[in-house]
Amino acid sequence: MTSDTLVRVDLAERSYDVLVASGLLDDLGTHVQHTLNTTTARCFLAIDDGLPDNTVAKANASLRDAGYTVTRSRLRASEREKSLDVVGSLLHDLAASRHERRDPVVALGGGIVGDVAGFAAAAYRRGVPVIQCPTTLLSMVDASVGGKTGVNLLVRDGAGNERLAKNMAGAFWQPALVLADVGTLRSLDDRTLRSGLAECLKHGMLSAGVRTPTNDPVDPDLFDWTAEHIDRFMSCDEPLLAELVRRNVAVKAAVVAGDERERNTGSGGRALLNLGHTFAHAIETLQELSPTSNPDDSPLTHGEAVLYGLVAASAAAASLGRLDAAHADRVKQIVAGLGLAFPLASLPETDALIVRMHDDKKVAAGKLRLVIPVGMGSCEVIDAPPPDAVAAGWNALRV
Ligand code: GLY
Repeated sequence: MTSDTLVRVDLAERSYDVLVASGLLDDLGTHVQHTLNTTTARCFLAIDDGLPDNTVAKANASLRDAGYTVTRSRLRASEREKSLDVVGSLLHDLAASRHERRDPVVALGGGIVGDVAGFAAAAYRRGVPVIQCPTTLLSMVDASVGGKTGVNLLVRDGAGNERLAKNMAGAFWQPALVLADVGTLRSLDDRTLRSGLAECLKHGMLSAGVRTPTNDPVDPDLFDWTAEHIDRFMSCDEPLLAELVRRNVAVKAAVVAGDERERNTGSGGRALLNLGHTFAHAIETLQELSPTSNPDDSPLTHGEAVLYGLVAASAAAASLGRLDAAHADRVKQIVAGLGLAFPLASLPETDALIVRMHDDKKVAAGKLRLVIPVGMGSCEVIDAPPPDAVAAGWNALRV
């Protein structure tokens, strides 16, 4: 595998490779065997229910051809089913199939399946190897890399109201290998593809500030390059998508290598990857919001909420005098060009949105933490941002 298709995530004894190319699932079994270097004979395949049959068949056949006895479990990729109940049922399935300590769990699908199966792998027998095989752009460039696993909690308040607290229970559990077969992106619809572009644009907005161990910027041109090629990504130009995934994984890998467990709360570290997400988390569970103003398209996907969040974070930064208004406008133009409607219809009042932002798990001591772009390519974390700046962020979605 050349360095064009391989990115190393450098985490001492938890280091691993991310392979990026078309057709990798055909050799999944060999890659798993080579990575784990064991004579293990069992493999647990957690499958995203939305995957085309031929993708599942390919992965399954490759594991069997390599000599694995495969136990399969299908998971529904919905935020409601990203739950402790589903993790519990996976743990029972693992025990029922007599899965042993060195036997791998292979997660095949989008971010939800990767998070749930990864969490089950972290918990089962206090940890078995997990191989992440992301099949969406979002999970290739973000969710599958970095070891965050977990589920949502359905929280009930004293009045009996329920809310979904995103990613509130989980574990850091680094994969043994990530295998990103960009051929699987061919089956994605436009909304799913543009949702992945949200995280790519996010990486572009912070990549100039991310350094390699030798202190070189990882990819300072990523934002401009991404913006320039959006049409080709959306028409599924595979070689270009492979380059997109590889460059984004390199940015994510460098951030994670510098701050694996998000402990660098000062100047940023892994927390920078939350750019746009504090705004996004306040709107993505609102069932009435639609990215096109057509109620049939409600609710927003996570990536669409992040796209709106990037616009809001840029506007907040502009109102604080930390970003040129022209840059903030450019971000909005790119997001609008991806088909997201402005104004965002049915957006609640700002005060209600600020209350929802406080439900984010990144809140510290009751104070909001916001990541803002400070010039194109660099970001900063700010604590307790002025309410006017947060309001300016939301107001950018109202016009
Ligand atoms: N998706 C943000 C992170 O991995 O830290």
